[in-house]
Amino acid sequence: MAKKIVILNGSPRAKGNTAELIKSFTEGAESVGNTVTCFDLQKMDIHPCLGCCGGGKNPDSPCVQKDDMDKIYPAYKEADMIVLASPLYYWTISGQLKCAFDRLFAVAECNENMENPKKECALLMAAEGSGYEETLYWYDRLMKHLGWTDKGRVLCGGVFNVGDIKGRKELDAAYELGKSLS
Ligand SMILES: Cc1cc2nc3c(=O)[nH]c(=O)nc-3n(C[C@H](O)[C@H](O)[C@H](O)COP(=O)(O)O)c2cc1C
Repeated sequence: MAKKIVILNGSPRAKGNTAELIKSFTEGAESVGNTVTCFDLQKMDIHPCLGCCGGGKNPDSPCVQKDDMDKIYPAYKEADMIVLASPLYYWTISGQLKCAFDRLFAVAECNENMENPKKECALLMAAEGSGYEETLYWYDRLMKHLGWTDKGRVLCGGVFNVGDIKGRKELDAAYELGKSLS
């Protein structure tokens, strides 16, 4: 069955390596009828979580902060799958992605026992090196604690500058991952 897929793009570089992974993934996913919505977080006004634990009162706009997260919340609610896309920054995801993800806490606040909505998930990441261990540890813990299902990850090391990813087999892997989802 076709899925609704939301990509949270944490890369600030519009034409960077993460963007290329997203493009290939999206082409693959759409080729089998999935619907893909990508949020370029860098272009959005998204503030860090305040930790006030005062959200969850309005399911359409669950956070006390009113910013561009209100564009993401409805898509997140509808989505079958969330794709976390980010460059590796200091052995973890970018601040843009972390900020947005923390703000999804307000959705859990709408539910009894702070339960997170169940989603499928995937990870797309580009990096200069290949030090993914910390990120993969975090990602696996995230899946376990949210009760989400990992559908795969594509990690492309050895890419630093915009364009370095051209011709890399990880772009094919991202396409195939997208295509496998239906
Ligand atoms: C602030 C910053 C931190 C980075 N930290 C790492 C790192 O810890 N490990 C690594 O391999 N590459 C690191 N890089 C390199 C990026 O992951 C790499 O350039 C990646 O291809 C950028 O993806 P993008 O083109 O989507 O922006 C860092 C780059 C920046 C700007």
